[in-house]
Amino acid sequence: MNAKKRILSGMRPTGPLHLGNFHGALANWIAMQDEFECFFFIADWHALTSDYEDTSSIAGYVEQMVIDWLSVGLSPEKCTLFVQSKVPEHAELYLLLSMITPVPWLERNPTYKDQMVQLKNKDLSTFGFLGYPVLQAADIIIYKARGVPVGIDQVPHVEITREIARRFNNLYGEVFPEPEAILTETPKILGLDRRKMSKSYHNAIYLADSPPDVRRKVMQMITDPQRKRRNDPGDPEICNVFSFHKMYSDKQVIENCARQCQSAEIGCVECKQLMCEGLLRTLEPIHAKQQYYRQNPELVKQIIEQGSSKARKVARQTMDQVRRAIRIDY
Ligand code: TRP
Ligand code: SF4
Repeated sequence: MNAKKRILSGMRPTGPLHLGNFHGALANWIAMQDEFECFFFIADWHALTSDYEDTSSIAGYVEQMVIDWLSVGLSPEKCTLFVQSKVPEHAELYLLLSMITPVPWLERNPTYKDQMVQLKNKDLSTFGFLGYPVLQAADIIIYKARGVPVGIDQVPHVEITREIARRFNNLYGEVFPEPEAILTETPKILGLDRRKMSKSYHNAIYLADSPPDVRRKVMQMITDPQRKRRNDPGDPEICNVFSFHKMYSDKQVIENCARQCQSAEIGCVECKQLMCEGLLRTLEPIHAKQQYYRQNPELVKQIIEQGSSKARKVARQTMDQVRRAIRIDY
């Protein structure tokens, strides 16, 4: 018996990971590896809910995501890393849960309503898109996970998961524990343009960006917007470059930059160069591991096959119980 509390979380393979993902979800996952029994997976079927028309990038994004996860320090020895579509039991549970999920629960899901408005260029009037939270519920409860580390935007989905689990238990008998959301802190750094760092805003620095790309992007960063000229004093506390300094620079550099910014002794270009050195120092070991895994695709494949087959064992056990509970077990 594993005495550790089991947690589970997933990411859709929608593109390479950036610093926002790294300091948000991933840092949280890495910190939880020792304390919890962790299941982390790539939600490739969920990517299809909005990107079903052009599926050409998904396979590449899945592979890249596994490499990024391994490169930032998620360990296949400590956690079960897997891909959703390699555990087809998720789909079976999803189907069964869909039988008991009232459509109004899905229609009033805030994410559903938001995305409908935001992604106007895509036809999201599909069954699969409406059913997104049912698939997510299946992902979570098939492992009887107690905790789900997610960002605040995912809390409604965990809430629907609890409601579905409760309804299942009421109808067929106690099978599923109700999972709880474990909130991920939002990273304090912003994108190049001071908006939230996001792939869709084109303001992100990626874990896979080459050093010259990182330098170029850092030079584009918006600093203290009030500091128009080199001789104007700046305010580090409202400057995103300074937020990066706090994450990546040594104490001495941070103190010097803060002081010299306020007295206009340092210009933003020089300040950015100093920060960039710290950032690249952090990225260096990640890049080395990315390169190692890229050169060993068989190893990456093997890690995912092993993780998925471990996950599948657990999922199969739950499905035996589920079929018995519903009496579709002949
Ligand atoms: N919906 C989540 C997101 O977009 C991804 C996801 C799918 C997930 N299934 C999950 C997260 C199960 C946690 C648990 O971020
Ligand atoms: Fe920001 Fe540095 Fe420029 Fe000050 S000197 S505004 S901290 S980039």
